Amino acid sequence: MKILFVAGDPKPERWTVPIRELVPDAEVYVWDPEGPAVNADYAIVWQPPEALFEREKNLKAVFNLGAGIDGLLKVPNLPKDLTVVRLEDAGMSAQMAEYVLHQLLEASREMETYREQQRQGVWKIHRPIKRSEWPIGVMGLGHIGKRVARTLADLDYRVSGWARGQHSLENVTTYAGPDQLGEFLNSTRVLVNTLPLTDATRDIIDYDLLSRLQPGAVLINVGRGEHLVENDLLRALDEGRLLRASLDVFRKEPLPAGHPFWQRREITITPHISARTLRDATLEQITGKIRDHAQGLPVSGIVDTSRGY
Ligand code: GLV
Repeated sequence: MKILFVAGDPKPERWTVPIRELVPDAEVYVWDPEGPAVNADYAIVWQPPEALFEREKNLKAVFNLGAGIDGLLKVPNLPKDLTVVRLEDAGMSAQMAEYVLHQLLEASREMETYREQQRQGVWKIHRPIKRSEWPIGVMGLGHIGKRVARTLADLDYRVSGWARGQHSLENVTTYAGPDQLGEFLNSTRVLVNTLPLTDATRDIIDYDLLSRLQPGAVLINVGRGEHLVENDLLRALDEGRLLRASLDVFRKEPLPAGHPFWQRREITITPHISARTLRDATLEQITGKIRDHAQGLPVSGIVDTSRGY
């Protein structure tokens, strides 16, 4: 069996050495932009070049090194019938839950205020948090969204979730589809975005959507930058409809110098780190699936490319 690793890591051996250990009978190759075809059976990829699908014609499946497969679906010559498998959790949902909780507390526990007080040597106690004033709405209820919703619900926040299809989650009120989006937004003050990026979700967080959240709203975007209409966010902040935003993903990454987001006190910027791909857990999952697939066993996490996730 031949496995081809196609990701722009300057030290690909960090990946290929463990892959060889996990699948000892495989021949493991690193993508060489100039090289010949290796006739790979499986490719492990992150935002691969078009040349991959021009050259490798015997691929049985590609495994995406991330949960979001928008970067792979953008490759114009991705064969329509090729099996695409995305990462399922692999240690990411716990990181996401942690990140979202941290950003929530910045607002709900007034952490910025306390940091400022410390700078001024001020000991002043503010009113304790009332959880009922911080209802949370999680958009997207995949592995990540569910874990985020569950974590916050376990801390006794009021949590609702919205997704394209029906989901049921303990202690979380769920809404489905465009018809119930309005109701979901009306019940939400802290909006957390964990949606996949698809044609149906691009630009979904616009001025209209932000205006339907409860007063003093907070946005936490850990999905994709293209979910958010950037100027609409600035307008909602300017008008005081939105209190603050924590953004981990951007339309253009790295966020360009001089971008208006850098200067806004109400925006917390992190460089796409809310959930890192953890190499060990990721490779264990992917190589396990490669072995199963090679033996004709079913694997989970296969993407419906027409749906986009
Ligand atoms: C990271 O952004 C991922 O999709 O896993």
